[in-house]
Amino acid sequence: MTTIGFIGTGRIGGALAQLAVDAGHHIVLSNSRGPQSLHDTVARLGPHARAATTTEAAAAGDLVVVSIPVRAWRQVPAAPLRGRTVVDTLNYDPDRQGAVPEIEAGTVAPYLLLQDHLPDAYVVKAFSTVFFQHLPQLARPAGAPDRSALPIAGDHPPAKTAVAALIDSLGFDAYDVGPLTESRRFAPGTPAQLAHLDPDGMFAAPPRPASATELARLLDLP
Ligand SMILES: NC(=O)c1ccc[n+]([C@@H]2O[C@H](COP(=O)([O-])OP(=O)(O)OC[C@H]3O[C@@H](n4cnc5c(N)ncnc54)[C@H](OP(=O)(O)O)[C@@H]3O)[C@@H](O)[C@H]2O)c1
Repeated sequence: MTTIGFIGTGRIGGALAQLAVDAGHHIVLSNSRGPQSLHDTVARLGPHARAATTTEAAAAGDLVVVSIPVRAWRQVPAAPLRGRTVVDTLNYDPDRQGAVPEIEAGTVAPYLLLQDHLPDAYVVKAFSTVFFQHLPQLARPAGAPDRSALPIAGDHPPAKTAVAALIDSLGFDAYDVGPLTESRRFAPGTPAQLAHLDPDGMFAAPPRPASATELARLLDLP
């Protein structure tokens, strides 16, 4: 089983943490307020979960999920993430999460911000297209006819293989869209970002499973 570090244990991080312990993985959770604030979360998740500082969570994970508001990107600890596979769930939403001057100035594309901050880590964009409440509702065993595919993108093939294995263990197929720059195809505002929403775009409505074929159509691949 894999040990997964979490930098950010909010809505999407928390939903992924639950799926991960359900799949038998070990998880190390962190947030901005420190390990003691995660006491109840760890108790609920059980013996495969523990809380730590962000630096400890980064160092402990075979894979490290970064799931924080984009505006906090500078606080992601770079040194312990050197040479590690990092799962980037981030979506840039300045109205709700605060603006990032570098993105607003066009110095860096929003979907490249974390890799830019962590040049020695292997960043794989994943889980950025699923509403957190839909994650457990869409998870299915391997081979289920209504299993959903989730897009991933990254520049390091072994890192993508590791993230695809994680995604499979959590109940989804991974769909490799290509290098990290190609994650623009499933960035906020694209049809692929809304793949699981009902036709009216209602987050409260039950999610729609989306197969790899359906996802490929929405990704507008060349
Ligand atoms: N919500 C979704 O359905 C969803 C889906 C896909 C992608 N995303 C993306 O995933 C990211 C997280 O979204 P969310 O909805 O899960 O946010 P959220 O519920 O607000 O949770 C954010 C988490 O990040 C932590 N955090 C904030 N600043 C931090 C820092 N400097 N160091 C360490 N941890 C820090 C928070 O800890 P404290 O509570 O201690 O501050 C909290 O655990 C966003 O970029 C979002 O666009 C969200």
